[in-house]
Amino acid sequence: MPALVPRPTQAAFRPGHFSLDDDTALHIGAGAEPAADLLRTLLAPATGLALPRSPEGQFTLALDSALGHLGEEGYILSVDPHTALLRAAHPTGLLRGIQTIRQLLPLEALSAIPRPGTRWLLPCAEITDIPQHPWRGAMLDVARHFQPVSYLRRYVDLLALHKISVFHLHLTDDQGWRMPVAAYPKLTEIGGHRTQSQTGPAGGDAFDGVPHGGAYTRAELEGLVRYAAARGVTVMPEIEMPGHVRAALAAYPRLGNHPERALDVWTRWGVCDTVLGVHDEVLDFCRTVLDEVMDVFPSPYIHVGGEECPTTEWTHSVAARERAVSQGLADPEALHGWFLARIGDFLVGRGRRPIGWAETGAELPLDFTVMTWRDPAHTLTAARRGHPVVSAYHRATYLDYAQTGGAHEPRAQPGPVVDLRAVHAHDPVPEDADDRAAGRVLGTQTQLWTEFVTTPAHIEYLTYPRLCALADRGWSGATDWADFSSRLAEHTARLDALGVERHP
Ligand code: ACM
Repeated sequence: MPALVPRPTQAAFRPGHFSLDDDTALHIGAGAEPAADLLRTLLAPATGLALPRSPEGQFTLALDSALGHLGEEGYILSVDPHTALLRAAHPTGLLRGIQTIRQLLPLEALSAIPRPGTRWLLPCAEITDIPQHPWRGAMLDVARHFQPVSYLRRYVDLLALHKISVFHLHLTDDQGWRMPVAAYPKLTEIGGHRTQSQTGPAGGDAFDGVPHGGAYTRAELEGLVRYAAARGVTVMPEIEMPGHVRAALAAYPRLGNHPERALDVWTRWGVCDTVLGVHDEVLDFCRTVLDEVMDVFPSPYIHVGGEECPTTEWTHSVAARERAVSQGLADPEALHGWFLARIGDFLVGRGRRPIGWAETGAELPLDFTVMTWRDPAHTLTAARRGHPVVSAYHRATYLDYAQTGGAHEPRAQPGPVVDLRAVHAHDPVPEDADDRAAGRVLGTQTQLWTEFVTTPAHIEYLTYPRLCALADRGWSGATDWADFSSRLAEHTARLDALGVERHP
């Protein structure tokens, strides 16, 4: 049986093959056109196959409303020597099935250049495949180090191969603002550039003396959203607030708690004391920014950060203290929840779902979906409170940590080693969750913070093969280590064929 990653729910292989060749045509059912387009796009470079549409086509792609039990992403693939049939209840299911077809074909199918002489054989099989968790994500921080959109498309290609459903794009932070907002042009003009970067961990005093920066155009981001959607991947934007906003405050100091003070885009790493003010203009700013974000990103979820927000500035600000009193809050610290509740209400009013990083699992407004990262116990706390939860537990999903303790590893975020086994073993559902709480756990995702990661090669070294383990866990549920590692051994040949500069 070919080694598939993630592992399908049920797969039975039989002797024999269906051959894709110049005579193969696609029988495309109503609504299956995007899947046919993706199949052609993915196979054309290596195979040169045209795969024309024909009602007599031997290869059928079809939506079938009787298959509702497969959910949004499930599919059934049936292959015999004369026909291939891919069915799903929803278009996304067909897109997932196409990635399976791609993994079932010879390795040469992944080539970016023509591979004449290869026989494009699909093994005879009956596969029924339904993911365990709907949220199988990957977060990439393009705020600390900018990456061009051409690389983001490549990143999405690799996510799609692993049936990842959410590409979480961390667009803003203290060290850079990457998305243009028409009403606030200085966010990218000023906030998109810093003079240099700290070279060591937070707190040190060594700098590289080299400017860093970049910003996307709106058209680039819209194009990325379409590109990802064609591959079944939702791009979820993250705009940090009320902390991690130093780049925005460098552009518009009046949005902070010290409007008279000029700030630079932060050149250090760590948690910055500088946070948004809580005056009306700031809320208007956030709403305007989020309106443009929602215009560009159709994602049902909009991430507004929320973590690591020191409240020192609010405690010392007369205006913030007055705001706390006028809102009946116990103290200025409570402005954090007050602020996010306003933002959450706004997003809900626009038909979107707010999501934020949890510090404890108990501090975000109840209409937030919660991303827990510090401790798996927070997943349970949040789920018991009624939040939908995504587990981003740092010891199992933070790819900026080194993947071995070896001295040969490139510079990594100081912290624990997160090895492949740790990622593979991570169950996003806490052990002691009852059915109700477990039902609120949407899934899990990888995190790649990029303080020390500047190049696509380094991104891929940190991401692969650990992302394969997370994708497998999220889609297939628990698999034993021996099964996963033997499938991965074959799967790495696919990564190599795609030129992924993976960890050995
Ligand atoms: C985080 O690691 N700042 C969520």
